[in-house]
Amino acid sequence: MTWDIEKIKTEVLSDVQAAGTLEALEAVRLKYLGKKGLVPEMYAGLGSASPEEKKSLGKGANDIKVLAEAQIAERKAALSLSAKKADALDVTIPGVARGLGSRHLIDQTVEEICDVFKNMGFVIQHGPEIESEFYNFSALNIPLDHPSRDSFDTFYLDAKDPAAAGRHLLLRSHTSPGQVRVMQKHTPPMAVIIPGKVYRPDAVDASHSFMFHQIEGLLVDKNVTFADLKGLLTAFCKKYFGDDVKMRFRPHFFPFTEPSAEVDIQSNIFKGRAGKWLEILGCGMVHPKVFEAAGYPAGEQMGFAFGMGVERIAMLKHGIGDIRTFVENDVRFLKQF
Ligand code: PHE
Repeated sequence: MTWDIEKIKTEVLSDVQAAGTLEALEAVRLKYLGKKGLVPEMYAGLGSASPEEKKSLGKGANDIKVLAEAQIAERKAALSLSAKKADALDVTIPGVARGLGSRHLIDQTVEEICDVFKNMGFVIQHGPEIESEFYNFSALNIPLDHPSRDSFDTFYLDAKDPAAAGRHLLLRSHTSPGQVRVMQKHTPPMAVIIPGKVYRPDAVDASHSFMFHQIEGLLVDKNVTFADLKGLLTAFCKKYFGDDVKMRFRPHFFPFTEPSAEVDIQSNIFKGRAGKWLEILGCGMVHPKVFEAAGYPAGEQMGFAFGMGVERIAMLKHGIGDIRTFVENDVRFLKQF
């Protein structure tokens, strides 16, 4: 048998280089140096070789053995080192910093608005999001069959109202039911702010959402006038939107206030809306029927109420064009505030 020594040497080199893991390298070692490997096979062939053949074959087998041992040892050292490196913990690499979250813009806006009223002596109260038809409508002088009820398209729940036969509970469509709840619980004088989520089955678009936030205000005392309401809301708008804000009170109708108005504002801080009147709230003097529903003796109290949309105010103040961005949870939007 003859062996092409030079060819075997090149195979040893390429086999060793091709071994990418310690296991693969061990297979190469067995192929050449193992008991059943090529080198022992070459030595075994020496016995039957002619004297000249013996000389060159013996030298060739030796050369291959030496080459394979050296190459495998070198490759083994390199592979062990990189395996160790992959495992190693490099304490000098800077840690991965976790971004700090921030409060949602709606939450911040609610707090900012409430703070303005708190500084004027108002107290924060909360009402339930699941309401009865009584508080959401009837107590607010909205008869159950009155067309004004249509303007508050409402989510009704399957759950029956335990307090009113045949009536269902609902998701409050405004924060005004809180007015009656607060009046029932406390005796005047009182000045309260009631922030919270409200629900209406509106088709979602850039300016409508089926859930949004309102902030309700209610003040009850003796001798309260519309001028007091006007003064309070003017102070609020100047404080919140800046001294150069322009306001207008536009006559309006709400069943639970009389007289009623909507307030529009104009300010050049509202990007792209300069010179435009923008509606921000509804308000008016508390209707006698609402005092009656709260159980207050007729003619003893006077008061005013107002309600504003938080998303709308945040959108104006921060130049946000689409109400849906508040609920999309896109961190790139949220982290700007
Ligand atoms: N509840 C009214 C609305 O949702 C706003 C309002 C509150 C108006 C209080 C007058 C007084 O549109």
